[in-house]
Parts: sequence; structure tokens; C-alpha cells
Amino acid sequence: MALTQEEINHIQSQASIVDVIGSYINLEKKGKNYFGLCPFHDDHAPSLSVSEDKKIYTCFVCGHTGNVFSFVQDIENVSFIEAVKIVAERNGIDVNIDLKNTTKYDKYYEAYDIAIKYYQNNIRSKDGKEALEYLHKRGLNDEIIKEFDIGFASKTNDTLTKLLINKGYSEKELIDIGLSNKGTTMYDLFRNRVIFPIHDSKGHPVALSGRIYEKSDEAKYINTKETQVFKKGEILFNYHRAINEAKKMKKLVLVEGYMDAIRIYSEGIKNVCATMGTALTSEHVKLLKKINVEIVLCFDNDQAGEKATIAAGDILDKAGLNITVLRLSGEKDPDEYILANGVDKYKEAIDHSISFFDFKLNVLKKNKDFNKVDDVSAYVNSVINELNKSNDQVLIDLTINKLSSEYGIDKNILLNKVIKVEDTKVLEVVSKPKVKKEKSIRLIELLLFYMMNDIKYIKVYEKELSYINDDKYQLICDEILAFYLKYNYINIADFISYEVDKDFYENILDIIDNNINEELSDREFMAIIDKIKHINDENKINELKEKLKNTTDINEKLKLTDEIAKLKKRDV
Ligand code: CTP
Ligand code: MN
Repeated sequence: MALTQEEINHIQSQASIVDVIGSYINLEKKGKNYFGLCPFHDDHAPSLSVSEDKKIYTCFVCGHTGNVFSFVQDIENVSFIEAVKIVAERNGIDVNIDLKNTTKYDKYYEAYDIAIKYYQNNIRSKDGKEALEYLHKRGLNDEIIKEFDIGFASKTNDTLTKLLINKGYSEKELIDIGLSNKGTTMYDLFRNRVIFPIHDSKGHPVALSGRIYEKSDEAKYINTKETQVFKKGEILFNYHRAINEAKKMKKLVLVEGYMDAIRIYSEGIKNVCATMGTALTSEHVKLLKKINVEIVLCFDNDQAGEKATIAAGDILDKAGLNITVLRLSGEKDPDEYILANGVDKYKEAIDHSISFFDFKLNVLKKNKDFNKVDDVSAYVNSVINELNKSNDQVLIDLTINKLSSEYGIDKNILLNKVIKVEDTKVLEVVSKPKVKKEKSIRLIELLLFYMMNDIKYIKVYEKELSYINDDKYQLICDEILAFYLKYNYINIADFISYEVDKDFYENILDIIDNNINEELSDREFMAIIDKIKHINDENKINELKEKLKNTTDINEKLKLTDEIAKLKKRDV
């Protein structure tokens, strides 16, 4: 049985967030709130703040924010409903949650589960003999084949489809799920291929990839299509198996291929996952930020791999992750490298991975003749170009010194080419719309924060303000009002487990993160309302003035001047 929102809210209200979080990490009380080392990034000073009365937590460093459920979800790596179950049980609340029937995607997971088991059986059958031999020849032993649930789809046309139809799946479902297609009749997607299961970040099976194992003109791999649970750009192969080890080792190796990840993992380096040959996306970055450890980029040893390393490194660098690069020489990819040189050599290479910046310098140096003035100049300029993307003053200084001594260039000439960090900061501030806008946003965020805490503030808002002069915040405000209308109460912890759009969920967390330590006071709230009113009026006045400038109609002019005067009077 799925739980209602009310039941979920009840569990939350009964649970002590301090007790629950305190069972994972040490918390110490400071003032009203509790503080501890944040488990979601490599924390050295207690940055995680937990509020018992607001029933939320936030990390000031990595920004991880949420309620008791999201904490359990992320630390235990379980689904929302599993987290609800864990919290309920810990607090002695009786809930009847059948985890089997709780998500709308169960049909997908279940079908993939059946398919995986079926294909696994096949690889032990007579039909699967050659496929199994192929895997053995590639150095995958039975233990690894079992651990990764590698299977085999035989040459038959529709056995899996029939099996699933017998289990109650409709033809349409099977097509949606991605395991079957329809021609004149229904047929299996995979025929005569080795099957690799793909899981999402929580470990649900969400897709399959089939590889040829004999000489063939067909594509090397085919994957199940993109579905509601499988978007190639949102999944990293082996992520769910790698998380814990990555956190422990404070490092994650990122490779391109299934076979690379499987090889590295099977040699005992379990903190590895693969992009499955696609460009790194912002969804991938989110997954990696969640672990927040050093990422060792170890892509294939070809031109494409080098390009992919630069692209991925740039994205991850921007996201604030610490990246190093491992370029292998000789063999084509990590899988072949380990087979040829042994895992110890590979481990050594990981330990000697270089910084992303040094890697980029190496790439820039390629194909240049440093006896030629033109080549030196091109190189130096491209390095300066890279430096101008960086905010790291130490890195800039060290690099300039090195360039100066290596190529005999006057340091000042180089320094003049570098935009100073202070300059870029000034530029940023200047280019932001208006300082005034910043202050008004801060006020709006505070306003919304109050409203998330208590309906009395919602009531004042409705009476005194009733709108916010910013679309993004107006949407959040509408969500707050919708929650209040539906449940006739509000608190932050329940509000964030209420289903809101993913996009502004981030904005809501941001607001909470910035204000968690605010003490609520009615007087301050009224002052905020007044200030926002004032800003709204000012905006309105400016709008009217603009209109006034642009109209030639005398009556219209009079009306506008009148309105402006009224607004001005209200503001004194
Ligand atoms: N890939 C894919 N479809 C293809 C080729 C590649 O989805 N037709 C993805 C797979 O995830 C593959 C990754 O891109 O693992 C990298 O490709 P490649 O280096 O060619 O594959 P390997 O994993 O090295 O496989 P193998 O060693 O078996 O050739
Ligand atoms: Mn390979």
C-alpha cells in the first residue's frame, strides 16, 4: 500500500531528525541547532546544521539540504519510500509499506529482473556455451560473470517476450519497457548477444546492453531504448556498486566502457564507474557531486578519449570537483592495459594521475616545435587563455613563473596578459543587474522562508502583499499557498517532501540553506513585508514613468502622473 501525504507527514512529525541523523554522525548542540561533520562531502569542520524544531538540515559547504527522509535516502542510498519505512521503524511507528508495490516504475524493474535472470540461465545452457567461452577468453571468470549478472540472449526470436507475456505483461508494456519490438509478430530485442545489465543510481535494473561475441557486421553493442527509467545521459554504469568504496577511498575512477569498469572492478578497484561512451552531462555531474570525491578520468587511449577527457574535465572543474587525469600509453583502454600489464601497474598509474590543468598543458604542448618562435608564442598564449578561466591565484603564479623561466619571457609581460582575479570579481559585480535587485531577492527569500514555517505568515502575505515581483519566486510562493490550501498548515520539513517541480525544488533548498539559522520574529516579518512593498512600489513607479515618457495622449499622461503621485505618497 502506498502511503498518503498525511501519513508521511505524520511519520515525519513523530520522528526526531536529531536522533535519526545522530545515529549516523556525531552531533553537537550549539545554540538552538545541532552541528556535525557532513557525510555528503569530505568535511573537516562541522558544516552540517540540523534544526529539530524546523525538522530540516543543511550543509553550509556542499549545500546538501533536506528533511529526515532525504537524509536517510542519500546516506543509505534507498528510494524515498524505503527511507520513510526506515524512519518509521526507527521511531516505532507501525506502517504497512509493501516495498514491492510502491513505485510507478516497478513494472520496469520487475521486467528487467526477469529478463536478467532468464539471460543468466541461458549462459549456463548449451546454447550459451560459445558466449561463455568468449567471456572466459576475455578473462572474466564465473565469479565476475555472476557478480555483474552477465547473461546470454540466444538465437531464438521471441522466448523472452513469451515468458513475460505469460507473466502478465501486455504487448504494449513490453514495447514501452524496451525488451520487445513488434513486426508482424512480437519479437525479442536481443538475439545472439552477451547481455550486460545496467542499473540506476539506486541499483534498480533499468536497461540491458547486448554485445556481439562472434565476428559480425552488426553494431558491437545494442542497448534497450531510452525509457522513463533509462536515459543514457543520466546513468553511470556501475555507480551503485562504486559509491561506498569511492567515499571510503575518497576517489572515483571514471572510464568509458562497460568492459573497462568490469575489468577494473573485478581486479579489486571497486570505486569505478563508466559513462557508457557518451559525453558527460549535467545529470552525471549531479551523481558525481553527490559522492564529492576526487574523480580520476581514465578514458580510452585515443584521440576521441583525449577530447572526451577535456570536455568532461571542463564540466567537472566548473562544478567544483577535484579532477585528475590518467592517460595510459600502449594499450587501447584500461581493460586491455590491465590484461597486458597487471593491476598493480594500473594502481600505480592511478596514484600518479596528474592534475586536470597539467593534462591540458600536455595537450597544448603536443605537435609543437619549441625551437620555433611561432609555436612557443602559440603555446604561451593558449596557456594564458587557460589561466584566465581559473580563479586559483597560486596556480596562476606558479604557471607564470614556470613559463617565464622555461621560455625566457619577462614575467611582467605574462602577468599583464592575465586578468587578475580581483578584476574578474569586479567585472562580475558590475555586470550583475543592480545591487538593489540583490537586496530585494534576499528579502523575498526571507519572506518565503517565513511562509514555509507558519501559516500566520502566509495569511499576512495574502493580506498585505499578495504578489511577488519575480516569476521564479512567485512560482515557489504559489507552491507554498497550494500546500497551505490543501493541508491547512505548513512546515518546511513537510513542504519539501510535497511533490514539487524538480527545477524549483533546487531553489527552495537554496532558500532554506541560506536561512536555516534565522530566528523567526513577527516584527522582523512585518519589516520585510514593508520593505518588499516599498520595492514593489518603486518598480511600479519606474514602470509608470517609462509609460509616461512614451505616451503622447494628454489624458493618459494625467492619469499616469496621478498614479505616480499616489504611489510616492504611500511610500513616505
Ligand atoms: N557503446 C555503445 N554502443 C556501441 C559502442 C559503444 O553503447 N555501439 C558504449 C558502451 O557503453 C561501451 C562504451 O560505449 O562500453 C565504450 O565503447 P568501446 O570502448 O568500444 O567498448 P568497450 O567497453 O571497450 O568494449 P569492448 O572492450 O568489449 O570492445
Ligand atoms: Mn574495450
